[in-house]
Amino acid sequence: MASDRAPEAPSPLSGPGLDPTTIERHKDAAARAAAELVQDGMRVGLGTGSTVAHLLSALGERAEELQNARCVATSPATAQIAKDLGLTVEELDDVGELDIAIDGADQVDPDGWLVKGGGGAHTREKIVAASARLFVVIVSAEKEVGRLGPPVPVEVLRFGVDHTLAALGDARPRDIAASPDGNLIADYLGPVDDPHALAERLSGTPGVVEHGLFAPEMVSEIFVAGADGVRRRAGGKR
Ligand code: 5RP
Repeated sequence: MASDRAPEAPSPLSGPGLDPTTIERHKDAAARAAAELVQDGMRVGLGTGSTVAHLLSALGERAEELQNARCVATSPATAQIAKDLGLTVEELDDVGELDIAIDGADQVDPDGWLVKGGGGAHTREKIVAASARLFVVIVSAEKEVGRLGPPVPVEVLRFGVDHTLAALGDARPRDIAASPDGNLIADYLGPVDDPHALAERLSGTPGVVEHGLFAPEMVSEIFVAGADGVRRRAGGKR
């Protein structure tokens, strides 16, 4: 589902040798645990990415039971998969406030800051997360990092893109990645020592539509799946 992924920041907590099959199993475990929060009749925001693909499978298996659930997708790919699985997908503005939104992340730091946007959908994901009473993040344990690092995805208007990238400084446009809304996705490659200050700087750069830093206050709970099962971390959203 993601395109032209930039490499993720090395995780000091992941340890060596986690094979892709194990990571997929962990993503599935986190997704299935969070899927249990979804009940019939709920308005549900669906994120984007490979972890969300597991969530969609879990919800799809319950499509009959969830026939009155109203889903909002953060990307065309998610919308298509959800519909194919028998889930009802509507536009955010037709649904209104969401009961819950569930999404993956590229990095999670000890304070609960997230980096998102590996799939280039972070602008829609942020809007959907902010529209939800509960925002639940699902990750495999290697996404937990001691400290956030580059790349931080940034959605940029095509108009004046060279100026915007120059203003951002250390940023590289992705070869083929465009956001679901036709904008360019670039990766900010500078340091992320102070996520709050960086988020303000990125937001304040003309031409930037949205960046992939999600503050802890946006997140209700983080489901982290690893070798010891699924751990639930409280987020900063009250
Ligand atoms: C897409 C995202 C994804 O949630 C994030 O990139 C994690 O993806 P995956 O579950 O494939 O590791 O932010 O824009």
